Amino acid sequence: MIDSYNDRWALITGASSGIGAEFAAQLAGRGMHLILAARRKEKMAELATELNTRHGTRCHIVAIDLADPEASRRLFEEIRRLAVDVELLVNNAGIGLIGQIESTSPEDVRHLLNLNLLTLADLTYRVLPGMLHRRHGAIINVSSQAAFQPVAFMATYAASTSFTLHFSEALWAEVRSRGVTVMALCPGVTRTDFFDKAGVPGWLEKHASVTPTKVVRKALRAMEKRRQYVVPGWKNYLLTLLVRFMTRRTAVNESKRYFRPKKQIPESEATKQPNDMGHGPE
Ligand SMILES: NC(=O)c1ccc[n+]([C@@H]2O[C@H](COP(=O)([O-])OP(=O)(O)OC[C@H]3O[C@@H](n4cnc5c(N)ncnc54)[C@H](OP(=O)(O)O)[C@@H]3O)[C@@H](O)[C@H]2O)c1
Repeated sequence: MIDSYNDRWALITGASSGIGAEFAAQLAGRGMHLILAARRKEKMAELATELNTRHGTRCHIVAIDLADPEASRRLFEEIRRLAVDVELLVNNAGIGLIGQIESTSPEDVRHLLNLNLLTLADLTYRVLPGMLHRRHGAIINVSSQAAFQPVAFMATYAASTSFTLHFSEALWAEVRSRGVTVMALCPGVTRTDFFDKAGVPGWLEKHASVTPTKVVRKALRAMEKRRQYVVPGWKNYLLTLLVRFMTRRTAVNESKRYFRPKKQIPESEATKQPNDMGHGPE
């Protein structure tokens, strides 16, 4: 668990907007100094100035493409050069990918997996040993409500969030007796630029959503309680339980209505398999 917020350092990836920028604001409000990592340097510089004025926060900005396979090594080396101990790591940088198979390029799939999955895991394994040595520290890995089931038309993204959830829960169990905590944050639809960038511009306006402020407040409270995962919002939490009572076939078929593209290749034109019964016990 973290020793103290005050005068300790947090590393936040994806800190230039949305949930990451909100983590920066709330942690600065609690007295933490920040290492902010993302690609948009100007956005982070604006945020750093604001937080410094308001809270006296020291901010170090790292402009970096975290989808680069070498990125987490370079980021960790930069932290070593700063000679600070990371008390809290927020692995938040992530992107979505929503659409039909024909409009999804393998390059985009690889980019998403590099960022959402490989960099997150790599950075976690670089930062954790120091925390275990000091016997305090915390990691929040941002996953999603989508982690609890497969989601049609966002297959890669949803599967990447399942990785993050399982990865974090397993580490939580490994390290909890050694003073350190790892938690997966699984937000539902949150008011950020995420869906516009993921390929469904305007989608957010037509759906219920929560604010990043609420998501981050709930996340920090859950981390303080040393929970292994948190789903902010009781309705979202109930939905994650509901899928446990459905067959896997029903759950994945239900998911189709969320992101079914307006102009879709008709299913009748798709090749029908002789046995289209899904998979289950023989
Ligand atoms: N919004 C939702 O409804 C929702 C729901 C569940 C989970 N999430 C998760 O929440 C996390 C934050 O997303 P958000 O909703 O806050 O969306 P957002 O406002 O688009 O934030 C995404 C952040 O990730 C950074 N990022 C993206 N690609 C990057 C790259 N290649 N290298 C470095 N940084 C990169 C972005 O910074 P730059 O563009 O400056 O690099 C930005 O700071 C994501 O992991 C997402 O999967 C969001």
